[in-house]
Amino acid sequence: VGRPDRIPHNAPHVVEEDVAEVVRVLRSGWIAPGPETAALERAVAGHFGGGTAVCASSGTTALFLALVGLDVPPGAWVAVPTYSCVALLDAVRLAGARPLVVDVDADTLTMCPRSLATAAHTLGAPAAALVVHTFGHTAPLPELAEVAGQLVEDCCHSLGTRGPYGLHGTFGRAAVLSLYATKPVTGGMGGAVWSAHDDVVARIRAFVNRTGTGSRWLPIDVRLGDLPAALARSQLGRLPATIRRRAEIAARYLAVCPPELRPAGLPDPTRLVYRFSLRCPDRRYRDAALAYFRRGGVSADPLPQEELLLHHALGLNPARFPNAVRAVGRTLSLPVHPELSDAAVERVCELLAGLPAGVFSPEPR
Ligand SMILES: Cc1ncc(COP(=O)(O)O)c(C=O)c1O
Repeated sequence: VGRPDRIPHNAPHVVEEDVAEVVRVLRSGWIAPGPETAALERAVAGHFGGGTAVCASSGTTALFLALVGLDVPPGAWVAVPTYSCVALLDAVRLAGARPLVVDVDADTLTMCPRSLATAAHTLGAPAAALVVHTFGHTAPLPELAEVAGQLVEDCCHSLGTRGPYGLHGTFGRAAVLSLYATKPVTGGMGGAVWSAHDDVVARIRAFVNRTGTGSRWLPIDVRLGDLPAALARSQLGRLPATIRRRAEIAARYLAVCPPELRPAGLPDPTRLVYRFSLRCPDRRYRDAALAYFRRGGVSADPLPQEELLLHHALGLNPARFPNAVRAVGRTLSLPVHPELSDAAVERVCELLAGLPAGVFSPEPR
């Protein structure tokens, strides 16, 4: 994340209220999965306006549970965007399915419907798609659903965003969130899966509680304990404030950002700004800008590089994923988390305003 003397690219935002909640649970004598986990499940369901949530040990296991809930057949294709976390591949493989890797939209970095249609035409229709609302952008859900049928909305970057198809997570058959330390609502680690469909929830519950008979999935304990659940529930209560603060920081950056570097889709007050990612003209500029921010005391982050793209992990031809390959060479993410002080935001603004247009030469300020 960065040297301690640098402004970190990301940091958990833990306040006294959170500490008090965790201490209360510690003192209660019960820290296994129990009442706090159940309360977080009710709070997540409340966030989505109904349905049922099931907590999980991570976002990865929550994605796996979603595939269990959708009853994805063994060996079936499950579509995943190549520009995303390796957790998606892990979940598909854990579920005994096969990843159908798809390129992303050049601007939003969300799964591209045209690329999905091409992959489905070549290899066969997927049983489901794991759709990431990358950095808080809304994925084109209706177009993806036309090809993929069942969607799992991965809201790890976008919890609380109200997109054109409603609150993120409520369009697909199931939604998933991560409570990892870098996420806007965190328990340190953990995740949850949510669905409004009783059959989906019943399959998930049967797996988690090991009440299913003849389950084709290997049994594994994926529950969340009461300590991370208590922290996450306290954080979830502050999600509207978190979204507002991130939007406020993004607005300050936008006011000084050279226009040609501006991130796509901002400003957008309805969106959780998970990343403020500059779109540099090319890799040389991006790498020079990264070094410039670091020298200036700010940990910027180039985000996943080519070797972390999912098609690369599977040894697939990069020519089929041109938008993702181009994006990794030009993206630079700036800190936008609520743990930033006003002075830290000001420092990022100063550096941002000093970025040269076009080429990075000879030496930045
Ligand atoms: C989009 C996305 N999905 C899923 C995950 C996996 O979550 P976890 O790290 O909690 O397993 C992450 C990463 O942390 C992510 O960024």
